[in-house]
Amino acid sequence: MSGFDCVASALVDTGWCVLPGFLSPAEVSALVASSQARRTDFARAGVGRAGGHAVNGEIRGDEVLWLDHARTADADPAASVAQGRLEALRGELNAALYLGLAELECHLAVYPAGRFYKRHLDQHRGEDTRVVTIVLYLNPEWGEDDGGELRLYLDDGRHIDVPPLGGTLAVFMSDRFEHEVLPARRERWSLSGWYRRRARV
Ligand code: OGA
Ligand code: MN
Repeated sequence: MSGFDCVASALVDTGWCVLPGFLSPAEVSALVASSQARRTDFARAGVGRAGGHAVNGEIRGDEVLWLDHARTADADPAASVAQGRLEALRGELNAALYLGLAELECHLAVYPAGRFYKRHLDQHRGEDTRVVTIVLYLNPEWGEDDGGELRLYLDDGRHIDVPPLGGTLAVFMSDRFEHEVLPARRERWSLSGWYRRRARV
């Protein structure tokens, strides 16, 4: 049995879910420390489809480090713990919802102070295999005035703002919810990813 039953039922009910405590404070500290130690390996994230990978600071200002699951265990044990738990969640979502989620694709991300990511959808229409978006926050402390919330635009025209507080996991259907990252007033760390289905051939 699992600790994540609420995620599957929330995805059915509303299509999104925010789960505090997905990582413990100690796991968050370890992961942000190892991410900071790899800071020079991060690169500005691009926008657009896989082919047209252009950096555009007016749209998105984060710097990312893609994680290869096979290689992470040696390179970054703390990231490996998080990926392992996210793989367990993938298995549970498949068992509960038959979503056919074949893999987790993910990267670490840091938004330096002042950076943001404008409103967007994670799935490119008709082409993308991203089914479920996950974002795991890695900031041990986050104040009300620190900005950097995830703003998720709901179906009914309302939105919710999720502060990127360490250990919290945000989950939502990739093709359904536009969202943005509001300007952060201090450095903002996360692990973001997508459960993907296999591409049709
Ligand atoms: C993304 C994204 C949201 C967040 O990486 O596509 O929207 O809260 N991230 O970091
Ligand atoms: Mn996104």
